[in-house]
Amino acid sequence: MRRGSIVQLSVLAAIAATITTLVAVLIPWLPVSASTEAGRIHFVYWFTTVIAIAVFAVVAAVLAYSVMHFRARPDDDSDGPPTHGHTTLEIVWTAIPAALVTAISIVSAVVLAQNSHAGSNPVVVKVVAQQFAWQFTYSNGKTYGSLTLPKDRHVKLDITAKDVIHSFWVPEFSQKQDAVPGQHTSIVVTPDRLGTFPVICTELCGLGHALMRSHVDVVTQDKFAGFLKSGPAAGPPGLAVFQRNGCGSCHTFTPASATGKVGPDLDNLKDEAAKANRGSLDAFIHESIVDPAAYIAPGYPDAMPHIFGSQIPADQLTQLVQYLSQGAK
Ligand code: CUA
Repeated sequence: MRRGSIVQLSVLAAIAATITTLVAVLIPWLPVSASTEAGRIHFVYWFTTVIAIAVFAVVAAVLAYSVMHFRARPDDDSDGPPTHGHTTLEIVWTAIPAALVTAISIVSAVVLAQNSHAGSNPVVVKVVAQQFAWQFTYSNGKTYGSLTLPKDRHVKLDITAKDVIHSFWVPEFSQKQDAVPGQHTSIVVTPDRLGTFPVICTELCGLGHALMRSHVDVVTQDKFAGFLKSGPAAGPPGLAVFQRNGCGSCHTFTPASATGKVGPDLDNLKDEAAKANRGSLDAFIHESIVDPAAYIAPGYPDAMPHIFGSQIPADQLTQLVQYLSQGAK
């Protein structure tokens, strides 16, 4: 090979590598990591990206060089010369990618093993997904509609679902895990940055899928200990039931600062009860929760899950009905 060709190929490869490196580095493709696990996953991304850029630069350089130097003239309809190929070259361009892919597998396997290591004393949080809300239950038996985690502790999320398949995702944690009815899946998270991050359902699960969001507060270990000791959220008991069952992700209800738009506006419960003509307001609300198909507000689909009647304990159901009827305008 002539010296000039090697210089040209190197310049072309350098140009291709520079452009792709700028695209990789200047655009913020990944969220800023908030857990040790996410940090490791980002390392795998970058490890793979560097290899991909190197391979792309070599291939793009050879391609561009060939287009420039071996272009056939427009009127040249003759066959190309018969060539035998180059055995050494073929062995090299098979062996190098095989080695690179093996390196990526090893790095990924090590990161997967490290990321599933929960230590001897993890904080365990039970995560239950249902249309269209998340419930987080702690070792003290208390359940919340949002997640609170301590910084710098291993946390094991024990994930399941009540109705259909959902998927737990916090972009800053870089991990996704399916929530499957009848099964328990888990992920280990070790938050390493204080802050509030979104919890997103990332599996299409029905009409309210896009609204099936909550948040995670990563707090100091002292604050977390206080959180575990503290009583239930302030406010009427019905509000806690409302929040725990995710009513606000589908319904607007001003007293609970809920702004959901999938189902009817609960601020208008009195008008709707008059239209449904079910006797008392409380009876109408009770029926709408345990048997949502009995009366469907005009203009809305039959989208409310039919599971709340069996899922909400009787005393909590009474609290919820009272809370809604007292708060309705
Ligand atoms: Cu739950 Cu999408």
